[in-house]
Amino acid sequence: MKARIVTLPGDGVGPEVTAAAVAVLKAVAARYEHDFHFDEQLIGGAAIDACGEPLPAASLAACKAADAVMLGAVGGPKWSDPNAPVRPEQGLLGLRAALGVYANLRPLQVHPALADLSPLKNERLHNVDVLFVRELTGGAYFGAKTRTADTATDECKYSVTEIERVVRRAFELAGSRRGQLTSVDKANVLETSRLWRSTVQRLATEYPEVTVEHQLVDSMAMLLLTQPSHYDVVVTENLFGDILTDEAAALAGSLGLLPSASLGDRVPLSESAGEFLPPTGAGNPARSPTGPIRMGLYEPIHGSAPDIAGTGTANPVGAILSAAMLLRHSLGLESEAVAIENAVDQVLRDGPHSRDIGGSAGTAQVLAAVLAALESDVNIATAFFSGARACG
Ligand code: NAD
Ligand code: IPM
Ligand code: MN
Repeated sequence: MKARIVTLPGDGVGPEVTAAAVAVLKAVAARYEHDFHFDEQLIGGAAIDACGEPLPAASLAACKAADAVMLGAVGGPKWSDPNAPVRPEQGLLGLRAALGVYANLRPLQVHPALADLSPLKNERLHNVDVLFVRELTGGAYFGAKTRTADTATDECKYSVTEIERVVRRAFELAGSRRGQLTSVDKANVLETSRLWRSTVQRLATEYPEVTVEHQLVDSMAMLLLTQPSHYDVVVTENLFGDILTDEAAALAGSLGLLPSASLGDRVPLSESAGEFLPPTGAGNPARSPTGPIRMGLYEPIHGSAPDIAGTGTANPVGAILSAAMLLRHSLGLESEAVAIENAVDQVLRDGPHSRDIGGSAGTAQVLAAVLAALESDVNIATAFFSGARACG
């Protein structure tokens, strides 16, 4: 398969982990005889420094024309003055909105080899397999903002359409997993949450195979720690999802481990960069109009980690697993995605481990080990991530 992938390394550790993810994608392309074309573009603070804006028109145009986008991270102290007129994070938010990637999938699993790193007792971590579906293009992040000398507001607004499309995606995902959906809101206080909850309740009748429960976000923050294995798919609005998934990363052992995929509606091939793909045909499911191909934005959930940027110690696993999600969701290359996940599984099991997960290996050593595992034939039957990630 030919595919055009835009990379947006961004700031801090972003370029370090993106380089690792690209190296893994190149290894997959070589081994499985794909032709991936990489196009690196500016975003975030690096783009502000180069051209005064966090999402240059050239970057956005390249992303819109691509089959998938792989992003590192944006932001950092250099651009964090609260009075700065332009901020790196605006670039990322603008990109998410412009690409229409409203459903942000953030899978959480706790690798048995890392369970001791979690602040929780080991027995609470058995069978933890949660797929967070975070609404990504609405809510307080995108509402009107006002600022005077002594007041500020961030409007939190949701329409039924915005809620429905992400909740439907969550129902579908739950239906393909354990059939359990937890919707998180603050319906005892917020009007947007009451609209959210009644929309979920209405849609639930269309998905009788899925059991739905509603949870207020404050108690959810506690329950995630006390009974994490209870949850299957968790759907929530933008801000709550941001916060809960960083909390979830602590269960896995490090923020550096979690990947994400941000997806919009299935893009009809005529609108996608279809001319770059081989012709429709049997054995090429990505070309099917109902197949898996859709533009997506893939990024680890962590930030630019300014405290370790430039030291070569960032954990590349979150970015590498995001590359696996890219292969699965945008290119329909399931076997290749599983091969990456198996290689990561092997490295998490046997080492080397980066510092954030108790080891002393640098980014390059972890990457080298993943590439070596990818080269060898990993035993799929025993691999931890195998199957479990199929829907995440
Ligand atoms: P952060 O995620 O950058 O870092 C939090 C902690 O986790 C730090 O101690 C960091 O060293 C550690 N960490 C993060 N990623 C790691 C990795 N791959 N390997 C090892 N350790 C890792 O969060 P922050 O410090 O609150 O934010 C820093 C900047 O990043 C801010 O400007 C913020 O806006 C931005 N940010 C960007 C994104 C993104 O681009 N998607 C996400 C979150 C934060
Ligand atoms: C994330 C980040 C972003 C968010 C920031 C950098 C805008 O924290 O991807 O989780 O809040 O969505
Ligand atoms: Mn975040």
